[in-house]
Amino acid sequence: KTLTHDKLSAQKDGYRYFMEKEIYEQSLVVGETLMGRIKDNSIILDELSSLDLAHIDAIKICACGTSYHAALSACYMFERLAKIRCNVEIASEFRYKEPLLDTKTLFIVISQSGETADTLEALKMAKQSGMRTLAICNVDNSSIVRTADMTILTRAGIEKGVASTKAFATQVITLWLLTLYVGEHKKSMDALTLQSEIAALLRVPLILKVSETTHEKIRRLSKRYLHGHGFFFIGRDIFYPLALEGALKLKEISYLHAEGYPAGEMKHGPIALADSELFTIALMPKNLLYDKMKSNVEELSARDSTLLVISPEPFELADDFIKTKPHTHMMGEFFEMMLITQLLALEISIRLGNDVDMPRNLAKSVTVE
Ligand code: AGP
Repeated sequence: KTLTHDKLSAQKDGYRYFMEKEIYEQSLVVGETLMGRIKDNSIILDELSSLDLAHIDAIKICACGTSYHAALSACYMFERLAKIRCNVEIASEFRYKEPLLDTKTLFIVISQSGETADTLEALKMAKQSGMRTLAICNVDNSSIVRTADMTILTRAGIEKGVASTKAFATQVITLWLLTLYVGEHKKSMDALTLQSEIAALLRVPLILKVSETTHEKIRRLSKRYLHGHGFFFIGRDIFYPLALEGALKLKEISYLHAEGYPAGEMKHGPIALADSELFTIALMPKNLLYDKMKSNVEELSARDSTLLVISPEPFELADDFIKTKPHTHMMGEFFEMMLITQLLALEISIRLGNDVDMPRNLAKSVTVE
């Protein structure tokens, strides 16, 4: 038992949990994901050489859990940057809904493990209907990789923490690369946009380097978020799936109730829950809908919700405030806020004394329906 314990702690390289180690690895593995895939201001994805994009006029993405949140994020990028229609399905819903499928839609599945039963079955359904299928996966030779027509590997390395972190980061990076590849090949993105997007992509590994000061600040403030009757993570546009992901991270390892919500939707009911026992974590990027977010957060603050604001701009109504760096691109803010919400979930869970790497009731790969 001691030997195993010592062996395991050696594998953690001095971190308290595999999840903490994997959060710190994100900077490195995102660099791996990008390796060899950007050359002379162009995206290289040889895995897609058999894909005739002229024949594709829409994208459907299917996934579960954190991978579903990566899929939702990708949809904003596909439509905004590559000007191609995109929609996302939860795999366990998709497989029983008798969906209308057509062969001009590229069917993408996202899976860290490549063994999620619902995602695998959805993939088989799409293949049977004659769609071209692409897997974004972290495990080569997994069932999903063996079933899909094409695969782009995310190269996150083995992810041991049940709560996914570096796999999510590399999934979003891979989907961003894919967006630019589609935009370039379908000529739906101008050269200047492509250039600025590539420059922003290349800044992400540095953005993901964890600053000890920020981590220590999050560790300190996490003591105020151990109780209360629940959390809302709110965001707009591509920060809405990030809010969903932040809420899932917290739920999974702290067992506290948390919900990700589109900030503009709070006034359509959920704001009835707002009081000082309700914690709102507001993702307030400067590069996207800041003023809209500001009014949403002011509404919540007026109803006494305890507010943690994550933003480059100080927000005087916040009970707690985590200042992010001034990024020129919204995805720089996306990845910095992703890191902060991951560390917040980690530190709250540690304070609650939970097993961060092996949370109760959860498995790393859900191979059953
Ligand atoms: C993520 O933190 C969860 N452990 C879980 O939601 C996971 O994302 C989901 O089960 C999908 O797994 P996959 O990516 O391996 O298909």
